[in-house]
Amino acid sequence: MPIQVFTMLRSSCSRWTDPGVHDGPKYAQCTPDTWSSFAGKFFQDYCNRCHGFTQQTVSQDPNVGPEIQGRYMPPSSPKPSTADVSRILTWIQCGEP
Ligand code: HEC
Repeated sequence: MPIQVFTMLRSSCSRWTDPGVHDGPKYAQCTPDTWSSFAGKFFQDYCNRCHGFTQQTVSQDPNVGPEIQGRYMPPSSPKPSTADVSRILTWIQCGEP
C-alpha cells in the first residue's frame, strides 16, 4: 500500500507500541468495532463463563491478547472462530475502544 496510507493507519492505532500488543496482528487496519458493538459479546460468549471481564479489566490485563492469540484461552468449547480471534486481536491492538 502507498506509504501515506500506511502511516495514517499506524498513527490511528494509539497503542501500537504499548507492551502486550506486539503479539497482535502486525499492521492491523483498525475497524469500527467497539466494546458494545463486538468485544463485550466476545468476552461474554467465550470468557465470562469462567472469568468476569469488563472493558476496564481487559484493558488492565496485558495477558489477554497473548492468551487469545496463542489459543490458550478459552481452554474448552465453545471457542471463537479464526475470524473472531483475528477481529478481537485487532480490537485490542487498536486500543480497545
Ligand atoms: C473454561 C473456563 C475458562 C474460559 C472459558 C476462559 N478461561 Fe481464562 N483461565 C481459566 C483458568 C482456570 C485460568 C487459570 C489457569 C491458567 O492460567 O491456565 C485462566 C487464566 C487466564 C488468564 C491469565 C493467564 C496468565 O497467566 O496471565 C487470562 C489472561 C485469561 N485466562 C484470559 C481468558 C480469555 C481472554 C478468555 C476468553 C477468550 C478466557 N480466558 C476463557 C479458565 C477459563
